[in-house]
Amino acid sequence: MSQATAAVIPAAGAGVRLAAGAPEPPKALRSVAGRALLELSVDALAPLVDEVIVVAPPNFVDPVQGVLGNAAGPRVVAGGSTRQESVRLGLAALGPAAAYVVVHDAARPLVPPDLVQRVLDALLAGAEAVVPVLPVTDSLRRRRPDGDSEPVDRESLVAVQTPQGFRREVLERAHSAAAGHGATDDASLVQSLGVRVATVDGSPLAFKVTTRLDLLLVEALVTTR
Ligand code: CTP
Ligand code: MG
Repeated sequence: MSQATAAVIPAAGAGVRLAAGAPEPPKALRSVAGRALLELSVDALAPLVDEVIVVAPPNFVDPVQGVLGNAAGPRVVAGGSTRQESVRLGLAALGPAAAYVVVHDAARPLVPPDLVQRVLDALLAGAEAVVPVLPVTDSLRRRRPDGDSEPVDRESLVAVQTPQGFRREVLERAHSAAAGHGATDDASLVQSLGVRVATVDGSPLAFKVTTRLDLLLVEALVTTR
């Protein structure tokens, strides 16, 4: 059986929380020390997989392809109006070879290679789905409709990162079963098929750039590494 691997990198979001109003350029093209967040994400994944598909905002396919290089670089396809739709469109663009797919947010530019490798290793060892996770460090409370709140035991809770890895067939099945629903990540979609989702250790460096504070953190880390 084929052991070929592929990465789908959804980068089609606007980044509304990063730049309120009409964000320009879209978040994945925001640059830090002269390099777009998307370039950093592609650099982290590309050496470890056989194929890379980048999913760009529909109006930015050409600029994104330009940033990534036209020749041997990743293929760029247009995304949709939700992350789920973008991932589905990215999957549809994959060549026939890949048996395993990792899906990685372009917005997590500093994901370390060893984290990516842990995800790939879990797939090659037989996991159908695998997600990197981190322990939650803050105390947690649940707000109740009556205005009161109650503590939540954080021992069993983890925060989920990307890349999330899947046997390709499983992820494709989940996306075709779920077209139009609004799950926030791919593992949740796959879980609704009854597939077990394994976990591997995530990394604090795989944080997602959501707000201006996160972008400042990327800047600080990139300029000191
Ligand atoms: N994404 C995508 N297509 C969409 C929405 C999101 O490919 N229609 C991608 C983003 O580009 C990002 C990842 O999914 O790499 C995680 O999404 P998020 O951090 O929410 O990014 P944005 O949607 O761009 O940000 P915001 O929600 O603040 O607008
Ligand atoms: Mg979003």
